[in-house]
Amino acid sequence: MQRERWPTRLTFLFAAVTSAIGLGNVWRFPYLTYKYGGGAFLLPYLIALVVAGIPLLILEFALGQKLQKGAVDAFASIKRRFSGIGWLALFVGFIVISYYAVVMGWALIYFFASVGVPWKSDTKSYFFSNVLHLSDSISSIGTIVPAVFIALLISWIAIYFSVWKGTKSVSKVVNWTVPIAGILFIAMIIRSVTLNGSLTGLSFYLKPDFSALLDSEVWIAAFSQIFFSLSVGFGVLIAYASFNKPTNDIAKNAVIVGVSDTLFSILAGFIIFGTLGFMATAQNVPIEQVAASGPGLAFVVFPKALSLMPFAAFFSMLFFLILVVIAYDSAFSLVEAIDTVVMDKTKIRREIIALVVCVIAFLSGIIFTTNAGLYFLDVIDHFVNSYTLLAVGILQCIAVGWVFGADKLRVYVNKVSDIKIGKWWNFMIKYAIPVILTFIVVTQLTKEFAAPYENYPQWAIWLGWVSVVAPFVIAFLIPQKSVQKGQ
Ligand code: PHE
Repeated sequence: MQRERWPTRLTFLFAAVTSAIGLGNVWRFPYLTYKYGGGAFLLPYLIALVVAGIPLLILEFALGQKLQKGAVDAFASIKRRFSGIGWLALFVGFIVISYYAVVMGWALIYFFASVGVPWKSDTKSYFFSNVLHLSDSISSIGTIVPAVFIALLISWIAIYFSVWKGTKSVSKVVNWTVPIAGILFIAMIIRSVTLNGSLTGLSFYLKPDFSALLDSEVWIAAFSQIFFSLSVGFGVLIAYASFNKPTNDIAKNAVIVGVSDTLFSILAGFIIFGTLGFMATAQNVPIEQVAASGPGLAFVVFPKALSLMPFAAFFSMLFFLILVVIAYDSAFSLVEAIDTVVMDKTKIRREIIALVVCVIAFLSGIIFTTNAGLYFLDVIDHFVNSYTLLAVGILQCIAVGWVFGADKLRVYVNKVSDIKIGKWWNFMIKYAIPVILTFIVVTQLTKEFAAPYENYPQWAIWLGWVSVVAPFVIAFLIPQKSVQKGQ
C-alpha cells in the first residue's frame, strides 16, 4: 500500500513547527527564564539548541524519512530489539498527552471566562480555588472537578477530529492554525512591548548575567527544555517525517523547525516580560518580585497583568486563544505519533485507531481533573521529563550513532540536503549528547535521593518512579516481529 504523504513540503513544516510550538514556549520557557535570572538563561538555551536540539532534529527527521516508518518500526529495522526505544518514546508521549490536554483545558476555561475577567481581584485564588478546586495535598484526591472535566472532554473531541484522517485532516488544521496563531501572536507582542513600563521587564529579560553559567542547574533546565520544546524523543517527528518523500531536504527542515521554535519562545518572552514590566511599574514593585511563583506564571501572574491592561477582556481572550491553539497542534501531534505506529503494524482503519487512542488518553487524564489534579500533574511531569524522556534521547543516540552508524545516516542527509552536515554531527550523536544527557540524569538522581521532590509524600514519589520504570519494562517486553529493512 502506498504510504500517505503530506500535500506539500510547507504543510509538513507547518505540522512539525506547530508540534514544537506549544505550552512549552509560552508557559514553560518564560518561567524558566524568569527563575534563572532573565538573560542568563538565554545563552545556555541557545547552546543546548545547537549542541543537542538541531542534531537530534536531524536524527529524527532522517530516520523517519529514510526508513518511511513510525518510531517503533524505524528502530526495529536498525535492530529488532530496539523496537523498545520506539515504544518507550510513545509511552512518554502518551503520558505527556494525558496531562497536556488537561492544561489545554484550563486555557480553554480561561478563554471562555475572559469576557468578564473574573480573576481581576485575586488571580491566585481564581486559579487554585475557582478553576482547579485544588485540595490541600496530593493525598486528598476528592472528586472530579466538573468544569475541568468538560474542558478536557472538549479538548479531546477537537484533538480527535484533527487526527482522524491522518495527514489529510492534520494538514487542513495546521493550514488554518498557523496563520491564526501567527496574527494573534504578533498583535500580542505589539500590545505588550508598547505598555508603559515594558522596558523594565525587557531589560531584565535580555540582560545577560554570566555568573549563572556556572550553575549546573541552569544547564540542566536548558537541555530538558530543548527536548520538551522541540518535541524530540516522543516519536512525533519520526512519524511526521515518515510521510515525506525520501528526497525532502532534511538539514533545512531541521534548521527551520529549530529556529522557528526558538524564535517563538524568545518572542513569547517579550510578551511575558514586557507585560510583567508594566505590572511592576503599575504596582511600583521591582520586577524580581512580581512573579515569584514558577509554573503559575501563565495562569496566575499573567492573568493579573492582563487584568490591569486597558481592554483587559479582549487581550485576555487573545492570550488564552493563542495558548489553546498552540497547545492543540502539539497535542494532536502526540496522538499522530501513536496512530502512525499502530497503522504500520495493523490494517485497522485510521479513524478507529485514533478513536481508541483518544479515548484511552482521555480516560487516563481524568486523574488530573480531580481536586488533587495539579499535584499529580506536577509529579508525573517531573519524573517523566527528567528521566524517561532523556533516556529516550540517550538510547536514540546510541542506536543510531553506534549501531546504525552515524556516518551512514549523515551521508543520506547530505545526499538530500542543500546544507551539508559536517563530521561534527557524528561526534554530537555518538559522544556529546549521550554524555551530557547521562550527566543530567545522574545529577538529578542524586538530588532525587537527597530529598523527595517538592516534599511530596513517599507514595507519590513511588508513583513517579512507577511512571518512569513501568514504560521501560513494558516497552522492552513487547515482542517485535521482524520488519522489512526499509533502506
Ligand atoms: N513541544 C511542545 C511544547 O513545547 C510539547 C510537545 C512535546 C508536543 C512532545 C509534542 C510532543 O509545548
